[in-house]
Parts: sequence; structure tokens; C-alpha cells
Amino acid sequence: MEGDGIGPEISQAVKDIFEAAKTPIAWEPVDVTPILKNGKTAIPDATIESIERNKVALKGPLALLTHVRPPLVRATSLFNLTLRRTFNLFANLRPCRSIAGYKTPYDNVDTVLIRENTEGEYSGIEHVVVDGVVQSIKLITREASERVLRFAFQHAQEIGRKKVRVVHKATIMKMSDGLFLRVANEVAKDFPEIEFDAELLDNTCLKMVTDPLPYNDKVLVMPNLYGDILSDMCAGLIGGLGLTPSGNIGDECSIFEAVHGSAPDIAGKGLANPTALLLSSMMMLRHMGLTEYADRIERATFDTLAEGKALTGDLGGKAKTSEYAAAIISKL
Ligand code: IPM
Ligand code: MN
Repeated sequence: MEGDGIGPEISQAVKDIFEAAKTPIAWEPVDVTPILKNGKTAIPDATIESIERNKVALKGPLALLTHVRPPLVRATSLFNLTLRRTFNLFANLRPCRSIAGYKTPYDNVDTVLIRENTEGEYSGIEHVVVDGVVQSIKLITREASERVLRFAFQHAQEIGRKKVRVVHKATIMKMSDGLFLRVANEVAKDFPEIEFDAELLDNTCLKMVTDPLPYNDKVLVMPNLYGDILSDMCAGLIGGLGLTPSGNIGDECSIFEAVHGSAPDIAGKGLANPTALLLSSMMMLRHMGLTEYADRIERATFDTLAEGKALTGDLGGKAKTSEYAAAIISKL
């Protein structure tokens, strides 16, 4: 799913790099223009069929208001959420690691955040009670909480981290976050070798921007909205959304995506930074068991960034997307 705006350019860079690395992947392009089905935003059938058959997908950014027919003006943001719900992509994995050579106020940041991806404030249940009074429902279920929490503990085991921390506001959201926290405590019992604790979201934000390093040995897991916000904050610690990957993980399929926007101002000019999509594609390769390819491409990417000779404009360089990709390819 190349996406809109800079989507095709950054996708091309990923494809060129994969080809140079002889990655055993055949791409099947699919349409991400939302359709209207029974008055609701829906995914084209051929796209659903393709994702179900292939089990993994790589997704570029979607524009917010362009290319969408008038009745669907709000549709593209919802389309992201529709994809996550349609395929039951219950965990959104968002790691942030400092890029050597790219100066930020913090060095050596290495956070791992897991966001519940199907419910919470994003369940899309909203209505007008009376004129001037609206309700948006925050939906938390034991089932969705348990599967994302279990995923967080398993992921900690996989990447060798010994601490899982649940981030919440159960002091205020007593019932919803209270349930999430309670389930977390239950799931933690199945992972006695992993230390488990909890932290209030506002406090996490304060501590992370003050000193992110104490979070390098933890996996953070939280309800949907908190994860959306806190993952952008973490991206800010290492230089922004242009540098961070993300994976929407389900039991049947998984979709890996760059979380940044479609950057219409620079679209078509060959100036975009493909790093976020490239790092997401490496998450995809690892998910597929193609770890050696991911390691090689990742090393070439980080070396290119550290060297600093072929950086795109957003990182203070002058390179075009294709020159940056060529620099990575030359290191493979
Ligand atoms: C993200 C994005 C989406 C979200 C939007 C585009 C719906 O911000 O992936 O973080 O809020 O989940
Ligand atoms: Mn977001």
C-alpha cells in the first residue's frame, strides 16, 4: 500500500533497497482508496483479499483530505483504524531508537512502546446526546486488553527485556483503565521472570522528556489513545516520525507502516526521507523470519545516517530520496 503524497517515492526507495539486497519478496500493489459501504468507510474487497492471502503488508502514508470523494472527507484517518480493526491487528508495536550521527538533546534512546490497537477512545462510538452535548465512548474489554498485554510480555521475552510497565490513568478512568490494569496484573503472573509495574501516563511523559534512558530496559504497554500520543512523544526524542517504524500485529495478518503524514508540500519532488517506511519494512522482514536481510539493510541504513553524507532535507542534508537510497545500497 504505497499511500498518497510522498508514499510512492518512499515506497520506491524501499523496493530499490530490497532488490539490491536480493530480498526474496515479491510486491503486490493494492488500492487504499476508501470506499463507502452501507454508509461506512470500507476497504476495497481486493485489498482485503490480498492482505488476507499475503498475511503481511507494508503501508505508506494516507492523505487526510485529498483524493477522497466529498462524503468521505473524514475517511482516510478512519481508514487506518478500519484496517486495524478489519484484520484484528490488536497490538501496535512502536520502538524508537536514537540514530547515531543525528543530534538530538538525548543520546542512546531505545524505547519500546506497545499500544492497544483496536478499541479505547478509538472504537468510533460517538453520538450527540442533545444539541451541545456529545459522548465519545471509551471501550475497554478484557479480551482486547489481555491479548495486547500478553503480546507485551511475550515481546519483552523475545527482545530480552526483563521489565514490562503498564502506562495508565486508572486513578481517574477507574473502570476502563482499572480493568486494563487488573488484567495486566493477572497476565503478569504468567511471566514470573519478568518484572512488572505500572505508571501514570502524565508522570511517564514528565519522566521521559526529563531523562528517557531509564526506559531503555522496559517494554511499555498501554491503551490506544495513550499509546498514540506517547509514541509521537518518543519519536520526538529521537528526531521525529520520519525515523520511527511501526507494526500493527495480529494473529492472522500484520501491517507495517510509516506513521508520518503524506507531506503534500514536498510530494513528487524526490525529497522525502524514506527511513520510517524502510525501518518498518525491516520490522516486517523480521516478522517474516528474514532476519539476516533485515540486519544487513538496517546496518547499511544506520551507517549511511551516521556518515551523514547523503541525508535528506529533513535531517539537514541535501540528498534526494534516490541518492539516500543509493548510498544505502552502496553499503549493502
Ligand atoms: C497513528 C496515527 C493514526 C492514529 C491516525 C492517522 C488515525 O496518528 O498511527 O498514530 O491515530 O492511530
Ligand atoms: Mn498517531
